[in-house]
Amino acid sequence: MKLKESIESVRNQFRTDSDPFPNDEASLNSLRIKYIGRKGLIAGLFSGMSDVLPKDRPLAGQLLNELKIEINSFFYEISNVSKKILTKENTDTSLPGINIPTGHIHPLQQTLDQIKSIFSDVGFSIAYGPEIDDDFHNFGALNFPPEHPARDMQDTFFIDPETVLRTHTSNVQIHLMEDQDPPLRYIVPGRVYRNEAISYKSYCLFNQVEGIYVDKKVSFSDLKSMLEYFVKRMFGDNTKMRFRPSFFPFTEPSAEVDIWSEKRKEWLEILGCGMVDPEVFKSVNIDSNIWHGYAFGMGVERICMLKYGIDDIRLFYQGDMRFLEQF
Ligand code: PHE
Repeated sequence: MKLKESIESVRNQFRTDSDPFPNDEASLNSLRIKYIGRKGLIAGLFSGMSDVLPKDRPLAGQLLNELKIEINSFFYEISNVSKKILTKENTDTSLPGINIPTGHIHPLQQTLDQIKSIFSDVGFSIAYGPEIDDDFHNFGALNFPPEHPARDMQDTFFIDPETVLRTHTSNVQIHLMEDQDPPLRYIVPGRVYRNEAISYKSYCLFNQVEGIYVDKKVSFSDLKSMLEYFVKRMFGDNTKMRFRPSFFPFTEPSAEVDIWSEKRKEWLEILGCGMVDPEVFKSVNIDSNIWHGYAFGMGVERICMLKYGIDDIRLFYQGDMRFLEQF
């Protein structure tokens, strides 16, 4: 039977043509047209059926159908595969989505946000002041005597003999008291600058939060209870803290607050504070017989380092994702 031979030869031809199967859309298409197109080889074999003797037709028809099924299912299979391979549309909508990484709030900003909310909750407003300021606001009005070592070039970045990068946020105490009459109650976050050797524990700039409260009856015990409240909310109810006598030109008496580090088995300083010195009130024309106040200043980096056990201040400014991603 001639047709039987033709079927066999088309089958062999197809197996050769399709192995390896064409890896681009165009040659896959011409393969499809060659075999199962309207004028393709399969169609040609079917039209040859009329020449087959009637007794042989059932067998010939069966063989031809088997070939047709083989070739059709090849194209059916491959069109599923090729859709993925050739057009790269390999989206499986049943798979879980891809996480698009979002940013992190910088640990310093997180700490600052927390400090702000702790003080806002008890009635402090937030104020800001200049980072470049004159000697009067950074030193003079804060009762630094002219020869005080803090004015020395080693600690202070001078822009000119009268202008400095502020060395602390206490300059804003003066601006606030110049600009408005008491009572006043503010915290002042901001960057400060010091000309210090850079190391794991000090950097040429860092962040402070100043606090200032001026009213008719403000006592040292108000200051103590406010800072106790702050420490408990910041570091937890069981944190051990102590007030240690200290000195600042602009507060009298002055103290520093330490908290106990169980990990390091030592007291660590977190802030300076005290009662606003009458000399400071005098420089902003506030009558210290009527008004009293307390002030405090804390380093944000230091608090953040203690809270999270960070041991190198420089990590805050390097933008290293391996560090930042942990927060
Ligand atoms: N300005 C002080 C410092 O930078 C901190 C301080 C602020 C102390 C307010 C007392 C009152 O160290």
